[in-house]
Amino acid sequence: MKKELNVGLIGCGFMGKAHSNAYLKLNKFFDVGYEMVMKCVCDSNEEKLKAFAANWGWESTETDWRKMVARDDIDLVDICTPNNTHHDIVMATAKAGKIIALEKPLAMNAEEGAAMTEAVEKAGKPNMVWFNYRRVPAAALAKQIIDDGKIGRVFHYRAKYLQDYTISPDVPQGGDALWRLDAKVAGSGVTGDLLAHSIDMATWFIGPIASVCAMTETFIKERVMQGEDKKMPVTIDDACAFLARFENGALGTFESTRYACGRKNQNTFEVNGEKGSVAFDLETAHELEYFDHGDPVSVRGWRTIQTWDSKHPYMKNWWVPGCGIGYEHWHINTLADFISGIEKGEKMCPDFRDALATQYVCDAVLSSAKNNKWETIKKP
Ligand SMILES: NC(=O)c1ccc[n+]([C@@H]2O[C@H](COP(=O)([O-])OP(=O)(O)OC[C@H]3O[C@@H](n4cnc5c(N)ncnc54)[C@H](O)[C@@H]3O)[C@@H](O)[C@H]2O)c1
Repeated sequence: MKKELNVGLIGCGFMGKAHSNAYLKLNKFFDVGYEMVMKCVCDSNEEKLKAFAANWGWESTETDWRKMVARDDIDLVDICTPNNTHHDIVMATAKAGKIIALEKPLAMNAEEGAAMTEAVEKAGKPNMVWFNYRRVPAAALAKQIIDDGKIGRVFHYRAKYLQDYTISPDVPQGGDALWRLDAKVAGSGVTGDLLAHSIDMATWFIGPIASVCAMTETFIKERVMQGEDKKMPVTIDDACAFLARFENGALGTFESTRYACGRKNQNTFEVNGEKGSVAFDLETAHELEYFDHGDPVSVRGWRTIQTWDSKHPYMKNWWVPGCGIGYEHWHINTLADFISGIEKGEKMCPDFRDALATQYVCDAVLSSAKNNKWETIKKP
């Protein structure tokens, strides 16, 4: 009989749905040491909460996260609320001595993030931040290829994270999902929301970033604020591009926007090394492009690896070769690593301290764009 782990989830939106699915499915597909119990779900919107709890099979509900965090029957608190709530919920959860899983970005800024990291480390319980793209099999395979030395010394990292849903000036700001357009709730625009993923992936692959030089733009200056029913200034970065120097001497270029007409969620990376390259695009997520300079010249070229074989990361837990996995599965893969890490007493990657390193880069990017100069990255 497996030990039970009682989960309390906060936030019934997009991520609340992805994570509920992960708790529901984890034990069906992965042999981990704990049985997930969907004990309690919390949202400040009571009507939405009741329907959500019934749909996903959560045993109980709370409308106040403070009550949920304080409950003795909750072991793990999973935070899926907008960014301006992360700090207070994490501080209370750490104080209550619970395991924490937090959605990215870590915080509104690095100052908040540093205090949160200190608090969870002092509490000494397992913690992680859901940078789920690390658990896409093709991305995990790229990591293996880089770590095995197959592409050798890395010279370049090139990332894009492109969307197009804010092109129309009629898109409002504020409220469910669109809180992302309001810096008071989101902290920043594409830098914290999208580039945080690219930075996390880059540092996972090739190590810390030493310095950055950035530019940002806000293309549409005013939008209707939901709830206020009047136009208000847009306070986020709609687009951001930055240059990076890594500590190991590699160079990076990063670009993100929500104004790339036709791009819905294009998240790409390319890593060029002395012996080869790897390239990935989330819009064709089961494929990893690999170039091996050691191949005979006559057959040398980019190969497309379809990462749906049982030998590929995570895939032995899923279907037969040829049947790929998608967005919902990457969250289940992430949860599987976290829970088996708890079982074995291993650190989860990324944990709060790793996410703080990403937060320092995000803060430096925004400050570089504001001050028009290179910024050195603080150590987490
Ligand atoms: N890892 C990823 O790829 C990914 C993708 C999307 C969002 N996110 C992150 O997940 C978090 C949530 O984003 P989302 O897209 O699910 O947002 P959302 O707007 O879809 O859902 C947020 C939910 O939180 C609830 N809420 C807000 N304030 C609350 C409070 N004080 N107490 C209880 N409930 C509250 C809202 O009612 C809503 O149901 C954010 O930090 C976001 O950056 C991560």
